Amino acid sequence: MIKIAPSILSADFANLERDIKMVEAAGADLLHIDVMDGHFVPNITIGVPVVKSLRRVSKMGFDVHLMISNPENYISDFAAAGADIITVHAEVTTHLHRLIQMIKKEGCQAAVSLNPATPLNVLDYVLEDLDMVLLMSVNPGFGGQNFIKATLDKIKTLRDMMNKKNLNIDIQVDGGIGLENIVEVVSCGANVIVAGSAVFNAPDPAFAIKKLKGAVRV
Ligand code: DX5
Ligand code: ZN
Repeated sequence: MIKIAPSILSADFANLERDIKMVEAAGADLLHIDVMDGHFVPNITIGVPVVKSLRRVSKMGFDVHLMISNPENYISDFAAAGADIITVHAEVTTHLHRLIQMIKKEGCQAAVSLNPATPLNVLDYVLEDLDMVLLMSVNPGFGGQNFIKATLDKIKTLRDMMNKKNLNIDIQVDGGIGLENIVEVVSCGANVIVAGSAVFNAPDPAFAIKKLKGAVRV
């Protein structure tokens, strides 16, 4: 099954509860929460207290994408706040294996994200430990950017790598995805699709989710 994970980065921050309940009712599979620190990426968004507050108003799986330096200092806080999946960037740590184990020890699913220019081979010796790999299809920091086409080959190569190792791990793709390219992204081997502006900037976000889901129904 293909999962759609709306990114609340493009939601109305003054009405997060309303927007989250709306995407949940529309059939969103996960809620993608973009955490940015103004250091690893040139933008600042939300942190632990917001995740904790949202946990009280939603039953959706929380897919927390940490775009922050020193993520090891915050894993237990995000886990306690209610994260179900915690994604860290390979670029921020020299101890990726340790960081992954830390996430799992907190009882969360562990995912690693790669920026567009980061090669797949950083995953060679940790792939078996992961629940999901997040391939960035834009340079992280902002919603509403254009999809970087080179990601398509990267998705295919990663899916091949997994198949060769007999691993069935989720491949999430994040950035610049909408109705115009979701079918191609999924056909390359991705099965978890993040969509921010394509959902929340649409005139009818609930209908936008239904259309995205309908386009990749298998
Ligand atoms: C970008 C974020 C994305 C972003 C996607 O750094 O990680 O999750 O919200 O937004 P769209 O779908 O508008 O590219
Ligand atoms: Zn994201």
